[in-house]
Amino acid sequence: KASERESMYLVNEFAKSFFIKQMLHTDEGKSVGLSYFKNRGFTSETMEKFDLGYSPDEWQAFTDAALEKGYRLEFLEKTGLSIVKGEKRFDRFKGRVMFPIHSMSGRILGFGGRILTNDKKQAKYLNSPESDVYHKSKVLYGLYQAKQAIAKADNCYLVEGYTDVIQFNQTGIENVVASSGTALTPEQIRLINRLTNNITVLFDGDAAGLRASVRGIDLILEQGMNVKVCLFPDGEDPDSFAKSNSKEELETYLNSNAQDFIRFKASLLLEDAENDPVQKAEVVRDIVNSISKIPDQITQEIYIQTCSNLLDVSEDVLFSTLAQILAKER
Ligand code: CTP
Ligand code: MN
Ligand code: MN
Ligand code: MN
Ligand code: MN
Repeated sequence: KASERESMYLVNEFAKSFFIKQMLHTDEGKSVGLSYFKNRGFTSETMEKFDLGYSPDEWQAFTDAALEKGYRLEFLEKTGLSIVKGEKRFDRFKGRVMFPIHSMSGRILGFGGRILTNDKKQAKYLNSPESDVYHKSKVLYGLYQAKQAIAKADNCYLVEGYTDVIQFNQTGIENVVASSGTALTPEQIRLINRLTNNITVLFDGDAAGLRASVRGIDLILEQGMNVKVCLFPDGEDPDSFAKSNSKEELETYLNSNAQDFIRFKASLLLEDAENDPVQKAEVVRDIVNSISKIPDQITQEIYIQTCSNLLDVSEDVLFSTLAQILAKER
């Protein structure tokens, strides 16, 4: 099994180099792939740092090249790079710009591939399937490139997408990773927790899914980490914002707009509840539930004080709600 995984890593490594070569040294790659990334504002240095590439718009360009080099079809299929249907073989990624996904130590686990347009009818990103080397829920995009910067800054920015990570790097902020559009998992949080106790979650300014994402953040509190959140202006995501601002402007924006997660959640939910007493009671329970996830009792107590003011509910009531929640969990 270990030797099979090794073969899959070798295939992924070959694919990474193949896609880079296609982008830099073929006419199609240069005019389509390279210019796509240039238009997004990425320099050659940035493309190299993230091993960005291009997969040609042909049915089996990659598969043929890999077979010719002696890689076995079995492993091309297991990594998901090739799709086998009877006698036919297809490249999974065709006419897409390629984002290799690295492990913490720099091995290639899988790929994301983006179409070159904003055609809403096609899936914008195609990703490698789950495999013996790629477990989506245990990987954070960009962690390989970010790990030192995260430890040094003692903070990690968490964004949604590949290009958010890359554009932040391009602008000069390197302590950033992406959940790649899926709900955050405890394993992913643990990866960050080894490097810092501080996370700042950056949300796309499209508001879609904001409330859903906020629920997932309790998982970060459970690991005893400090969580801040920061929203971007309407219609912007970290990528578009970083692209049109300097490093200093971006840092200023982040520093002045990042707010404590529990306070943020309280005001967000309060807005929704308007003045309905039943809904407000729900909000109080929801917030106290988040507070109950914090392992440290002193921190819990400080949040109870803060939220008593924010929610206009006595500390006594909040403490007894907390006691009820904790009792139920035992
Ligand atoms: N995603 C995906 N498949 C999709 C759409 C999104 O896997 N069909 C993942 C990708 O990892 C993507 C992330 O979710 O980077 C965030 O999605 P979105 O905000 O829609 O994309 P952006 O990263 O902003 O991509 P771009 O700027 O290239 O449009
Ligand atoms: Mn820690
Ligand atoms: Mn989004
Ligand atoms: Mn986005
Ligand atoms: Mn984007």
